[in-house]
Amino acid sequence: MSGLFITFEGGDGAGKSTQAELLDAWFEERGYEVVRTCEPGGTRLGSALRSLLLHGTVGEGFDEVGAVDPRAEALLYAADRAQHVANVVRPALERGAVVVQDRYIDSSLAYQGAGRVLDIAEVRRISDWAAQGLWPHLTVLLDLDPDTAAARRRARGGTSDRLESEADEFHRAVRSGFLALAQADPDRHLVLDASEAVDELHTAILASVAPLVSNAG
Ligand code: TMP
Repeated sequence: MSGLFITFEGGDGAGKSTQAELLDAWFEERGYEVVRTCEPGGTRLGSALRSLLLHGTVGEGFDEVGAVDPRAEALLYAADRAQHVANVVRPALERGAVVVQDRYIDSSLAYQGAGRVLDIAEVRRISDWAAQGLWPHLTVLLDLDPDTAAARRRARGGTSDRLESEADEFHRAVRSGFLALAQADPDRHLVLDASEAVDELHTAILASVAPLVSNAG
């Protein structure tokens, strides 16, 4: 596979989308084909699963699903991932594109593993199976204190989704989960303090991305 696969991870409100968009623009200015995508979502099936997972419904006229069992939740995220990798990510990488993605397997390990307290090794096995063993070349972890992240989300306005509405304790466990994953696999991770300025974060990300760009094109 000749493309380049970069994922952004971190708690809700850490600024992943902003940095992913800046990186997407940086590659496009240099003439690369960039596929900017996200999980959950990124396919039609994924959009329906995203609605179910974040809002408990697939739309008007569909009764709210109520509480979702943690294992069911883990499988739904894995189903989204299987569809997305098979239909979007792998084909893009095979034609040499750069895939810049919000969230991937680490989110399942941090949210369903550390957050919902499922066995992380089991969640990893399910996700790895769903993704047919595809891992990113680089994962940028935007680390942010959950209180600051919650304040950012409040300032942004709008309603909170199911995960965002979880207790502080859940968000703290997710943060620790992400940091533990980065520590266990430092070669794949770039960990940044997400309270830094947007342009400083972008510069730091480019410093890690530049040595990888010969992968794509
Ligand atoms: P976001 O797209 O706004 O970041 O929202 C996605 C939410 O889904 C976020 O709260 C994290 C959560 N999530 C999981 O719990 N497990 C996963 O595997 C993924 C990809 C996301």
